[in-house]
Amino acid sequence: MREPPFKGKSVVITGASSGIGRELALQLARQGARLVLAARRSDRLEALAGECQALGAQALATTTDVTIENECAKLIARAADAFGGIDMLINNAGTAQFAGLADLPDLNSFRRVMDVNLYGTVYCTFYALPHLTRSHGRLVNIASLGGFLAVPGSSSYAASKFGVVGFSDAVRMELASKGVSVTLIGPYWVVTELNQHTVDQFGLPDPAAGQAVYTKRMMTAERCAEITLRAAARRRRQVLMGPGLPAAVAKLLVPGFTDKATIAIFLRPALERMRKLRGDVPFDI
Ligand SMILES: NC(=O)c1ccc[n+]([C@@H]2O[C@H](COP(=O)([O-])OP(=O)(O)OC[C@H]3O[C@@H](n4cnc5c(N)ncnc54)[C@H](OP(=O)(O)O)[C@@H]3O)[C@@H](O)[C@H]2O)c1
Repeated sequence: MREPPFKGKSVVITGASSGIGRELALQLARQGARLVLAARRSDRLEALAGECQALGAQALATTTDVTIENECAKLIARAADAFGGIDMLINNAGTAQFAGLADLPDLNSFRRVMDVNLYGTVYCTFYALPHLTRSHGRLVNIASLGGFLAVPGSSSYAASKFGVVGFSDAVRMELASKGVSVTLIGPYWVVTELNQHTVDQFGLPDPAAGQAVYTKRMMTAERCAEITLRAAARRRRQVLMGPGLPAAVAKLLVPGFTDKATIAIFLRPALERMRKLRGDVPFDI
């Protein structure tokens, strides 16, 4: 029988305390990887590290806020020290906002989304580069279909995820000759806690809006993690889930039509659900 691709590999996962990150950790633990788990909620990370150890893996919980560059540097240094190097970094930590740009009182909440989704990815990648180069390793960035197609109300999320896509493309080309692969993942709807953490125009959690926006739950976090790890093992360039590929092609060929279709298929039903859930909507179109 073939050995699991990540057996004995040292893997850093950001945003491991819930959703897709947690599932990635558990599946890698079953393969016998050596894991460094990062997020802010230490209690959840410690519990997950215990679950991974019970599955036979080595696992370290490292409390990290990816918006703080120095904490990302420490996370990477700790991972390299603990396991003698890093074979794979999965930049997965993320957050979301649903609000019209004109309704933001200031740009603090916008900047926060950029800090988590884009700069968190940039910081961890930057500090992991020497280790990944040494191991001819793998960089895996969890973007979103929102990094290929924007919708009204998603300006901060789209800006951050389009940023992750461009960043990943540039870094992929820079690292290709060094034997490091960059795999970009564009999930569609995944059942996670993202809806609970989606913030409104004031940067406050707005679970009703999140529930309305993220209601078409099509994929489990388990399935998303499986697809991600298979793509990483094969060093694939990019995976777009759900309607991602046809939608991205349509956006290139017929952008105006695709914008209208996105509003009709995605935004209007979400606004309708939101009206039903809480009687109002943060903005209308
Ligand atoms: N769910 C979807 O439908 C969907 C679709 C497309 C893309 N994605 C992407 O998938 C990734 C994972 O999200 P998810 O759906 O699994 O959501 P989730 O369950 O809310 O998980 C998000 C993770 O990010 C961590 N995180 C948030 N802010 C952080 C910070 N400042 N520093 C460190 N960690 C932080 C959270 O942990 P702490 O709160 O403990 O820090 C949590 O572990 C995100 O990048 C998201 O954009 C999700």
